[in-house]
Amino acid sequence: MKKEVRIRPFWYSDAWLFPKLVTVVTTLDADGQLNAAPYSHIMQYDVMHKRPRIMVGFRQDSHTFKNIVATGEFVINCPSADYLEDVMESARFYPEGVNELEHTRFTAIPSHKVKPPSLEECPQIMECTVDEIVRLDQSSGIVFANIEAIVMDEGLEEMDRAERIPAMNLPIGLGDQDRFEYFFARTTDVVQYTLKETPRGYQASKIRTSLEWDSQAMQGLMEIPPNVREMVTIQVETYATGKGATVVTIQHMDELMAEFGMDRAVMDRFRTKDKDANATPAGATEASAEQESAKDSKKIDSLLEDANKLDPDVEFTREACAALTSVPRPFIKKAMKGIVKKAKTEGVALVDVAFVERVNAERNA
Ligand SMILES: Cc1cc2nc3c(=O)[nH]c(=O)nc-3n(C[C@H](O)[C@H](O)[C@H](O)COP(=O)(O)O)c2cc1C
Repeated sequence: MKKEVRIRPFWYSDAWLFPKLVTVVTTLDADGQLNAAPYSHIMQYDVMHKRPRIMVGFRQDSHTFKNIVATGEFVINCPSADYLEDVMESARFYPEGVNELEHTRFTAIPSHKVKPPSLEECPQIMECTVDEIVRLDQSSGIVFANIEAIVMDEGLEEMDRAERIPAMNLPIGLGDQDRFEYFFARTTDVVQYTLKETPRGYQASKIRTSLEWDSQAMQGLMEIPPNVREMVTIQVETYATGKGATVVTIQHMDELMAEFGMDRAVMDRFRTKDKDANATPAGATEASAEQESAKDSKKIDSLLEDANKLDPDVEFTREACAALTSVPRPFIKKAMKGIVKKAKTEGVALVDVAFVERVNAERNA
């Protein structure tokens, strides 16, 4: 049975559960005095690369909001769960002009692009300047801000998400009770799910090109995730045809991506380690996508070593292990053991990529 709940101010904090980011926002007042306070009403606002922005909501009479209005700058510091007590200390209603940090273990360090300092103990930090302020009537002040710099502890950026989550140990805000009891969760029980191929997900090998693609453009196409590669193929060919071209070049791709606010750096984030990533579409004139990065290569070597230790009667090929790189790390051993079991049941002594793909397809069916 469900029951309708009254919508009241602070609905998002009272009955409704709304897990949120926990941050400490640092600002300077007009006289250059430092202020710090926790804020969780925060959300990415404009996610395109062209103009990344963030949105933060404040009580209009808070020192933080007043300082932002006065100076146009602030820093969003994300502390680890080990600093929750300090976060709570900075939330106390200290009088204007009091530097809350003096009552905490946080240390102010210079920021890269803005005047308000950052907090050394915070593994991820965002330096912001005001783009627009909306003062909601008798309610929050909403600040839409430009992201001037994203600063992280060294080593974090390079980590896989599975490693970075425990390394950063960010708390999750779970709201408050009566404005005094604040609830948080720690990210100690993280679960991971793998997105299965979409029902219409195209295998790269099934995509047909109708124009000729030069080798650079083909390589660019191969960097697009397989499930959107068909759409991109059609869009780029339509674009190139519109330009009167008969051969698709990387410039056509770049121009089209730019229209969406994307550039090559953004596209890199979509680069897939999927087994189809480097397959060449039928009809393509050149295969140019065989680019195994050094990192991938090391990962495949280590998988091969592990796989071939599992059973003396079942050997994995390197290509079979390459096809396994898309399996999330916590599940990889289990996946390999499943493959070995299946190989033994079927009397298969050599696990090749076709065998891995068949087992995957059966599992996903
Ligand atoms: C975890 C946490 C999250 C908070 N998030 C917000 C928020 O998003 N917006 C807000 O106005 N106040 C929020 N507060 C309350 C302010 O931090 C508190 O009112 C503080 O005293 C304001 O300080 P200031 O006047 O120095 O800015 C939060 C408090 C805590 C403990």
